Amino acid sequence: MPADNRYAFLVEWLDPQAQLVRQYLLFFYSIDGTVEMDDIKNRRKFLRRCEYPGISFQDLYLGATVSVYSRELVIVDYGDEFTKGQLEQKKEKTLALIKPDAFLKVGKILNAIYKDGFRVGRMRSLHLSRGDAQEFYAEHRGKPFYDELTEFMSSGPIVALELISDGAIQKWRKLIGPTNTFKARDEAPSSLRAQFGTDGTRNACHGSDSPASADRELNFFFNQPGRFPVTARFNNCTLCVIKPHVVKAGVAGAIVDSIVEEGFEVSAAEMFNLTRVNAAEFLEVYKGVLPEYNLMVEEMSNGPCIALEVRSEHAVQAMREVMGPHDPELARVLRPQTIRSKHGLDKVIDRKSTRLNSSH
Ligand code: CDP
Ligand code: MG
Repeated sequence: MPADNRYAFLVEWLDPQAQLVRQYLLFFYSIDGTVEMDDIKNRRKFLRRCEYPGISFQDLYLGATVSVYSRELVIVDYGDEFTKGQLEQKKEKTLALIKPDAFLKVGKILNAIYKDGFRVGRMRSLHLSRGDAQEFYAEHRGKPFYDELTEFMSSGPIVALELISDGAIQKWRKLIGPTNTFKARDEAPSSLRAQFGTDGTRNACHGSDSPASADRELNFFFNQPGRFPVTARFNNCTLCVIKPHVVKAGVAGAIVDSIVEEGFEVSAAEMFNLTRVNAAEFLEVYKGVLPEYNLMVEEMSNGPCIALEVRSEHAVQAMREVMGPHDPELARVLRPQTIRSKHGLDKVIDRKSTRLNSSH
C-alpha cells in the first residue's frame, strides 16, 4: 500500500427507520488507517476523520460490506479517479475448482490459496451432474479423455471458488502446477496437483486459462442460482460458522484443516454475507444474555463468513469440545489445544461459532 494516499469510495446504507438508501463518501487514509465520511445529499461531514480499527485497506473493494458505528455500508463504486486507477488493475478474477479427489483437502488448499495472497470472493461446495460436467468441459468434447473426465467430475462433491488478485489466472495455474499429476510431481513437487492429485485425469484442481474462460466459468458456477445441488447431508452434523475477522485474516483454511485433522468430515462449505438483521436473528439467543451481543452482531455482519456442515458421531457435542470455551482468553488458559484458543482474539471475535443443527 502506498504510504500517504487518500482513497475514496461511494457507499450506501439502508436506513431501516426511514426505509431509505443513504449515500456517503467514505475516505480511507493509508498513512494512518483513519477513515472519514461525507453525507452526499446534505453536503456535510458525517464522520470526522478518526481511527476505526475495524476497517483496513484490504476490506475496501467493490461489493464489500463494512460496518462503521453499527451502520452496514455497501461499497458500490470508487469515489474518485485516483482510487479507481489504483485499485481497478489489481482485480483479475479466476475460477478455481477443488475436484472430487481433493474434496477432503479443502482446508489445506484454502490455506495455500490465502497464503499465496488471493482473496476469495465467492465459494461454495456443490454437485455436478454428468450433463453439467459435459457442458462445463464442452471444449474437450470428442477428446479421448472426455468421458472419463466428465464421469470423474460428477462422481462426488466439488468446491468452486472465485479467486481475486493481481494476475489471478496465471498465478492460480502456477500454484496448481502441470495438468498431469505425475508430471506435476516431477516438475513442480510443491504444486497443489503434485500434492493432492491422483493421476492424469484426477488432478485435484481446475483453473481458468484466460480472462474469457474465467468470465464464462465464473458465470457457470455463480450466476445460475439453484442449478447445482448443495452437498450438505443434514444428518449427524453441526453447523460451524467461521466469522468475518478470520476470513479477512486469511486463516479460514487453517481452521477447516484443524477440524478435519480432529477427525470430522467437512461435508459442505459456503461463503456468504449476513446483513445486520440476519446476524441479529442468528445470534438472538445471546440477546440480553451476553453484554457483548451488539458487538457480536456487528462483527458477524462485517464481511463474508464461511458456513460449514461438519459431520461426525455426536457432532454437536464433539465439535463444541474441539472449539473450546466461548472466550478465547479463557480457552488459552483452560484448553490450549482448542480452536478458539489457537485462533480466537477475544470474546467478540472468537473466530467461530457453532449452533445446533436441530435449529436449522
Ligand atoms: O485443466 P487444465 O486446463 O490444466 O487441462 P486441460 O487440457 O484443459 O484438460 C482439462 C482436464 O481434462 C484436465 O485438468 C484433466 O483432468 C483432464 N485431462 C485428461 O484426463 N487427460 C489429458 N490428456 C488431458 C486432460
Ligand atoms: Mg483447461
